[in-house]
Amino acid sequence: MKRDIQILSIFSFYLAFAFNGVKAQDRKVFTVKAGQVKASIQPTMWGIFFEDINLGADGGLYAELVKNRSFEFDVPMTGWKEEKKGDAAGGYLINNNGSAGAANRRYIRLESKSEEGYGLSNEGFRGMGIKKDMGYDLSVWARQTDDSKVSLTAELLGPAGEKLGSANLIPSGTEWKKYSVSFNASATEPKAHLCIWLNGKGSIDLDMVSLFPKDTWKKRPGGLRSDMVQLLADMKPGFLRFPGGCIVEGRNLDERFQWKNTIGKVEDRKLIINRWNVEFKHRLTPDYFQTFGLGFFEYFQLCEDIGAQPLPILNCGMACQFNTAEVVALDQLEPYVRDALDLIEFANGSIDSPWGKKRAEMGHPAPFNMKMLGVGNENWGPQYIERLKVFTKAIKEKYPGIKIVNSSGTDPNGERFDYLDSNLRAMNADIIDEHYYRAPQWFLDNAKRYDSYDRKGPKIFAGEYAAQSVRIASPDNRNNWQCALSEAAFMTGLERNADVVVMASYAPLFAHAEGWQWTPDLIWVDNLRSYGTANYQVQKLFSVNKGTDVIPLLLNNEPVTGQGGYYASACIDRKTNELILKIVNTTNKAQNSDFVIQGAKTLKGKGILTELSSMKLDQVNSFEDPNAISPVQKEVSLKKNTVSLAMKPYSVNVLKIAM
Ligand code: AHR
Repeated sequence: MKRDIQILSIFSFYLAFAFNGVKAQDRKVFTVKAGQVKASIQPTMWGIFFEDINLGADGGLYAELVKNRSFEFDVPMTGWKEEKKGDAAGGYLINNNGSAGAANRRYIRLESKSEEGYGLSNEGFRGMGIKKDMGYDLSVWARQTDDSKVSLTAELLGPAGEKLGSANLIPSGTEWKKYSVSFNASATEPKAHLCIWLNGKGSIDLDMVSLFPKDTWKKRPGGLRSDMVQLLADMKPGFLRFPGGCIVEGRNLDERFQWKNTIGKVEDRKLIINRWNVEFKHRLTPDYFQTFGLGFFEYFQLCEDIGAQPLPILNCGMACQFNTAEVVALDQLEPYVRDALDLIEFANGSIDSPWGKKRAEMGHPAPFNMKMLGVGNENWGPQYIERLKVFTKAIKEKYPGIKIVNSSGTDPNGERFDYLDSNLRAMNADIIDEHYYRAPQWFLDNAKRYDSYDRKGPKIFAGEYAAQSVRIASPDNRNNWQCALSEAAFMTGLERNADVVVMASYAPLFAHAEGWQWTPDLIWVDNLRSYGTANYQVQKLFSVNKGTDVIPLLLNNEPVTGQGGYYASACIDRKTNELILKIVNTTNKAQNSDFVIQGAKTLKGKGILTELSSMKLDQVNSFEDPNAISPVQKEVSLKKNTVSLAMKPYSVNVLKIAM
């Protein structure tokens, strides 16, 4: 991504924070006006942005352990290796003339010339993470050739060849059939691999070789990694945006994301290359494909599971403008628009409608209640507006209740942004998606960004944001406390402006420690472990303390947007009858402050303070120390209507008081 490069040296950042610290030593008195509702907070306010980047889906959330299970990668043996024990002999051939699935034409023919010892191994995605005593489901599509009677032995092996589990399969007949078997693993191993041995001389065809752990989310066979979904569920997200990101656009239009190719039987889902595979020369990932085992049905199901509103984003007839900038001619846009209309029917239509019927056939007769749809990711220029208008007309005519999310491009200011912003406002757009990957200081400086936005214009979706410790797309960016703290300060500004900002999500979401292209990321995983970064802790803290209505929190009668190093917002939660204050101390000094609460009839004498803090701005969470920055709770007392808080240096504080 070529953008304005924003470099903020650690030195100047410390200076800014220290300067704030000097100014912030005096005890401050804040006023909270609990009786004055300024705006409603939408249930969608804090959500999740998901993209298959950094092995987010394949090799990550999608729990499949076999890489290139259908031999459809551009190099068909990617991830696979021929295996021969001792002097065993045999050979293989990749065939391309139809196999298990219609969209999946390649398969492997293996011929063993020995009674045993010939086979194939799969390395997994940077190895396979295997857990002791866990059950594993192995399946394979197979057929014997002519009169062969070859049986199969599958073995899970550790790096030194130690056996972790095994199972046998006996395929019969010359027609393609799916064979399945389950077995338990005897040890935990982050870097296992799978071997499939042929027993007996002869040849056999194999396709869709698949291995899943049994402990997937909700124990769904062929499902999602439960530890990763749990981290999402814990955030209580208001929405889930999927499937991206730039992968919506594709490097060219042939490689764009097409949702219809991602539903139905997994063996019929046509995989495509993942555009993040060679995007960054410094982070090449040529083995990165999208198999779509995690497809649009599964995304909707995930939304339902974690209580998030679905927000799918579709290609608008334009490929990524950083790559080819290919566009489809306006008079050929119809299939793209049709995809949008059909998607709404797939998500919401009755089971008698063609696409509603497909949803029901996949096991979900009830609608998914989709209310929003994004058209285009980071597209810009007149070509975007022209295409967007065609989509908008067609969608609004057929589904007037669907809110359309519109792109404001790649940056939160500049010529492209201004052009799109003014055109979208002229179109009376429902929701404008703004993206900011900026230095931490930008987030502090922009806590007031939305104070001046038109209250009657389109709503804002802060669709992708993350403070960059070095600069956008630098592999050296870190998920450090400095970044997370500045995001928290900025988020108080989003909450204060909840009448304009209706949704916000950090991006990107997941990164595999050995397969990432982009950093920083909200959640890091390896083959067995996962942890939330400091930024995750901030997102979660805001989201689980969302509230329903914004109320004023003032210092000298002004909103708190950086005076003395403080940033703050307040809300009430009508559902739980609580008052919720969020205060960010960006200074290097502990701060004693009083919060005088006006307009609340009765307040309980005690509140709960949840703190995130670290004295070190470069502190990060890690696999070794996943909770270095994690919430700490304590009880605080009220004296009449005043709470005195001793806020730690560099801290995010959420105070909840029952009313
Ligand atoms: O979040 C990573 C990428 O950043 C997204 O795919 C894209 O929308 C933005 O440029």
